[in-house]
Amino acid sequence: MTNLTNRKIVLGITGGIAAYKCAELVRRLKEAGCEVKVVMSESAKHFITPLTMQAVSSEMVSDSLLDPSAEAAMGHIEFAKWADLILVAPATSNTIAKMAAGIADDLLTTLLLATPAKVAIAPAMNQQMYAHPATQANLATLKARDVLIWGPGKGEQACGDVGAGRMLEPHELVALCTATEQPQLLAGKTITITAGPTREPLDPVRFISNHSSGKMGFSLAEAALKLGAHVNLISGPVTIKAPVGVNLINIESAEQLLNESLTYAPLSDAFIGCAAVADYRAANVATQKMKKQGDELTLTLVKNPDVIAAVANLTQNRPYTVGFAAETQNVESYAKGKLKNKNLDMICANDVSQSGLGFNSDHNALTLYWQNEQLALAVNSKTRIALEVIKQLAKQL
Ligand code: C5P
Repeated sequence: MTNLTNRKIVLGITGGIAAYKCAELVRRLKEAGCEVKVVMSESAKHFITPLTMQAVSSEMVSDSLLDPSAEAAMGHIEFAKWADLILVAPATSNTIAKMAAGIADDLLTTLLLATPAKVAIAPAMNQQMYAHPATQANLATLKARDVLIWGPGKGEQACGDVGAGRMLEPHELVALCTATEQPQLLAGKTITITAGPTREPLDPVRFISNHSSGKMGFSLAEAALKLGAHVNLISGPVTIKAPVGVNLINIESAEQLLNESLTYAPLSDAFIGCAAVADYRAANVATQKMKKQGDELTLTLVKNPDVIAAVANLTQNRPYTVGFAAETQNVESYAKGKLKNKNLDMICANDVSQSGLGFNSDHNALTLYWQNEQLALAVNSKTRIALEVIKQLAKQL
């Protein structure tokens, strides 16, 4: 594994002669373990063909904001969220100017406004155009917005001029991508994460469940992978895709979750219980479909095992144990109560009464509690929040 393994990079190619080097750039990024999706501006296609880029990236090249079939496959906002890094290489003076002004008149410039990811540009243009005060002012604007500006290099240019304006070489750009990646704080560690809902059967066709989407647990799994961990992800039924590289274990009921958790937890350095486990299950599961009878139906439910408490109370090979608490009121006192009662090392609490956060949302805000400390993480995408949680966890291991 390199520390670019599983990294998702959007390579935005704009119209400069250095675009011919992008085939090599994609090949090297893929060799380093990245998933690369290529977006091309109209003028880029004069310098290198979409077919070449499709062949080297093994992915369809995107070039249009208004293409219904491309939007159906992955909408542009989803695309913008998919990326860990958007690298614009080569970045022409025109694209740099559009970025500085916030113009979104094609797919790439729209993604650049819509993305929460890091953005890097590799300027490439004639040395006079690079030195122009307009270009310099635009670059200063982008720099102030934390856009990473890689290069340009100096030397002989395609037009015959000599000076600053050459795109950095593919191997230099790959090295810069690597340098921006997360330090491998969890290299050699195993993290087991539970995610999603459980389904508690009533009969062969019905079950009790909840609205958990699995997004938070899956984001935690992805963050742990990024920091170099081996990740076991024990998940209830969800519709989202597991990050490439995790060991995915599918479960349905709380009892199955308990069994798998007790198998993997003792082999792990940390266990994170993010699953929304049903508190109760049917006392008796009907073997045949239950028939309609009268106006009322009384179900007898019995308590499910508390999975995380079982892990936290392991007497041998107990992992560092992290729970979640989704609350609608008294968040702090309930979370601290669970930290103590379930014998946890850390708990991540969220107030699910706030609309747009927590369950089924792409965003969350959490407060982390340890026995004698706490840390509030402000509202952010689940991806960013997850990375923060995992970094905090890494400090404890
Ligand atoms: O008790 P409550 O459900 O609020 O606690 C939440 C935490 O406990 C979460 O980490 C959840 O994954 C875990 N949990 C569990 N088994 C249960 C209930 C909750 O592991 N039966």
